[in-house]
Amino acid sequence: MRILTDLHGRGHTYLRISVTERCNLRCRYCMPEEGVPLSPKDAILSFEEIERLAQIFVRNGITKIRVTGGEPLVRKDIELLMARLGSIAGLRHLAMTTNGLLLDRKLDALISAGLSSINISLDTLREDRFREITRRPGLNRVLAAIDKTLATPLAPVKVNCVVVRSVNDDEVLDFVELTKSLPIEMRFIEYMPFSGNGWDHSAFVSFAEMRQQIELVYGPLERRSDGPNDTSKTFGVPDFRGSLGFITSMSEHFCDSCNRLRITADGNLKVCLFGSSEVSLRDLMRRGATDSDIEECIDAAVKRKAPRHAGMDMLAMSEDRPMILIGG
Ligand code: GTP
Ligand code: 5AD
Ligand code: SF4
Repeated sequence: MRILTDLHGRGHTYLRISVTERCNLRCRYCMPEEGVPLSPKDAILSFEEIERLAQIFVRNGITKIRVTGGEPLVRKDIELLMARLGSIAGLRHLAMTTNGLLLDRKLDALISAGLSSINISLDTLREDRFREITRRPGLNRVLAAIDKTLATPLAPVKVNCVVVRSVNDDEVLDFVELTKSLPIEMRFIEYMPFSGNGWDHSAFVSFAEMRQQIELVYGPLERRSDGPNDTSKTFGVPDFRGSLGFITSMSEHFCDSCNRLRITADGNLKVCLFGSSEVSLRDLMRRGATDSDIEECIDAAVKRKAPRHAGMDMLAMSEDRPMILIGG
């Protein structure tokens, strides 16, 4: 089997596909205050185009696809796209990252479509703060969606929390407490800078600091095993049912084991989450390219992938897309 391998020896088996630029929340760490100009509808990949690209990538060694956004569940008929992706031979894992607001309605259809796991974002357990962070109401809907998902074969669920100083860093221990009885992996994510998201050094809370805060109360955390390409380092409080993950993009990058590629909603291939180098697979397809033309273009882009991202201070200054247009 062909595997897309870069010049630093990394094979790529994981593709993240953003299916929309729209979102029903306005998280401060993700979107600039003034919103983002959305691409016209016909600039966004159709289901046929997404399916075609997914098939090409799977033929080239991708075994896991994660569907992201914006918020993927706001894309009309998303369950139909998931079913198309779910039936691609050779794809072993179909995942989604969502804010959970619309999950209740779609959950059964997504599971029937072949969804194998889901990550749900949740940055606070307090309604007033949820409104403050996301600029919208909805905490109870997200909590209900997590509960409902835990009763399905999708359990355990990963819960994503971006920790920002003076915003939600005082809730870290409340989140840890959730793992006592719930089968969740509670993931604390270091706040990353993206165009227009208000990042600044003083708002950044490192993995080391979060760990220290937790261990002061719960004692030494137990190290649990990670997969070879995981973004998170997994720990747990001894005897707690759930686990704790730390995504240390800023303080300890994990670029050496990166196996990811991304497609933006408007059809650009992005070989690194950070970095503005992109190539339009949409334009290639719309110009009538054959599958092998597209493979060649993907291969060349992968070969241009840098060994690692530029480091914390450089990232804060770089002019990349805002996170909402990348999809994490
Ligand atoms: P799994 O597929 O379950 O391993 O999840 P994931 O962590 O890859 O995906 P998710 O969408 O839940 O993202 C969680 C956080 O990890 C987000 O803040 C992402 O931006 C970050 N993340 C995901 N992929 C990468 C990556 O390639 N590099 C870096 N630095 N961060 C990433
Ligand atoms: N830093 C870290 N994580 C972020 N996410 C969105 N913006 C940022 C940021 N600036 C996370 C969301 C979601 C995932 C796809 O990316 O919380 O869980
Ligand atoms: Fe929407 Fe997720 Fe961005 Fe929040 S972090 S605005 S839920 S895409």
